[in-house]
Amino acid sequence: MQHNNINVSYENEPSRDPDFTVNYKAPFNAEPRQDVLVQQFITPTEKFYVRNHAPVPDIKGESYALKVDGLVGNPLILSLNDIKNKFEKVTINASIQCAGNRRTMMSEYKKVKGVGWGIASLSTASWSGCRLRDVLEYAKAFTKNEGALHAVFWGLDFGCPEDNGKPYGSSITMEKAMDLDGDVLLAYDMNGEPLTRDHGYPLRVVAPGIIGARSVKWLDKVTVSSQESESFFQRRDYKIFHNGVNWDNVEKYWDKTPSLQELSIQSAICIPAPNSTLYLPFTITGYATSGGGRKVERVDISLDGGETWDYAELMGEDKGVCNKYWSWVLFKYTITKLPQLQNKDHQKIRLVCRAWDSASNTQPKDVKDIWNLRGVMNNSWHFVDITVLNQSVKNKL
Ligand code: MTE
Repeated sequence: MQHNNINVSYENEPSRDPDFTVNYKAPFNAEPRQDVLVQQFITPTEKFYVRNHAPVPDIKGESYALKVDGLVGNPLILSLNDIKNKFEKVTINASIQCAGNRRTMMSEYKKVKGVGWGIASLSTASWSGCRLRDVLEYAKAFTKNEGALHAVFWGLDFGCPEDNGKPYGSSITMEKAMDLDGDVLLAYDMNGEPLTRDHGYPLRVVAPGIIGARSVKWLDKVTVSSQESESFFQRRDYKIFHNGVNWDNVEKYWDKTPSLQELSIQSAICIPAPNSTLYLPFTITGYATSGGGRKVERVDISLDGGETWDYAELMGEDKGVCNKYWSWVLFKYTITKLPQLQNKDHQKIRLVCRAWDSASNTQPKDVKDIWNLRGVMNNSWHFVDITVLNQSVKNKL
C-alpha cells in the first residue's frame, strides 16, 4: 500500500477481535463496543483498544535488543532475558487513553482531522515489567543539572506516513521517568501474558497518567537527552492549538505549543447507548479517569441536560501497589423514578455525566470551548439522549 509516497505492507498484521469497531483499517485503529468496555475493571486483552500508526512489526523475542544511550555513563544493549532477570518485576494496574478519545464528538461540532474515535479509545490492564527508572539508573543516566531532561523513545514500527516513514517516537520528562511514584514501566506482560503483537510485543513503555501516545510500543531505544523527541508525534502532533489555528497557519504554532503529557479529567456514559428507548428502572454505567495519578473523587449525573445533578456510585477502583491513581473508575447510577414522565406516554431526556478529581478539576461543559484542529483531549461533558417510556404504556401492550 502507498500513502504519502511511502510504501508499506499490511500483509502481516495479527488477527483481531471481530467485535471491534474499526475506525481505520491500515494502520489499524479500533475500539471495543462501549457496552463491552465497562463490563470489567480490567479490560480483556483482545478487547483493549488498538492505536497503531504503521504496520505492526513482527519481532522475535530471542533476537530482540533494547538500546539505552545518550546522556548516560554506561550505554546498554539489553536482551529480553536481561530485562526480565536483571531488574525487579513490578506489576501495576493502569488505564491507557488515547489523546484522540471522543474526537468524533468534537468533529460533530466542527470538523477536525484525525482518526474518528468514539468514547472507547481507552482501556485498563494489569501491566508487568521492570521500572524504566531502574534501567536508567543501571545505565548511569546523568542528572537534571547535567542536562538530562527527557527520556526519548523510538519504536520498531517503520513507515508512519505522517513522519515520512520514520519509526514512531515520543518522549516523557526525566522527572516522570525517574519519579519513584511515577511507575513508568518497560512492560513485557499484559494481564499476566506476554504482550500481544498489537500491544507492543516484546517490550513497550507504560507511562501511566499521561497520554497514550507516550507509551511507545515495540520499543527499540531509550535515549536520555536535553531535548524532547524530535518525532513528528512530539513536535507537531498531540498538541492542543487554540481555535484560531488552522491548516494554513499551523506551522507558526508548532514550536510555541507545548506537547501533551498529563491527561485531563474525563468521563463518559457507556450504557445506555445514544437514542435508546427504555422503561424505568434502568441503570447508567460509565467510566471516569484523571491524569497525573490524581484520584477521581466524584462523578455527577444529570437527568435534565445539566440543570440539576446527583452523585453516581463509584465502583472498581483498584490502585494496587501504586501510591497514585493510574486506573479508571467505573460508575453506575440507577433511575427508578422520573418526575418528568408523570401523566405522559414517554419523555425524551438528556443524560449527562461529569467527573471531578482530587485537584478539583472538572470537565468543561461545552466542546466548543476546547475545540482544536487535531481534535485532541475532548473531555467536555458527555451526554446521551434517550427516550423513557411510561410503564403504563408497557402494560397496555
Ligand atoms: N508506539 C508505537 N511504536 N507506535 C504507535 O503507533 N501509538 C501510540 C502508543 N504507542 C503507537 C505507540 C498511541 S497514539 C497510543 S494511544 C497507544 O500506543 C495505544 O496503545 P495500544 O494500541 O496498546 O492501546
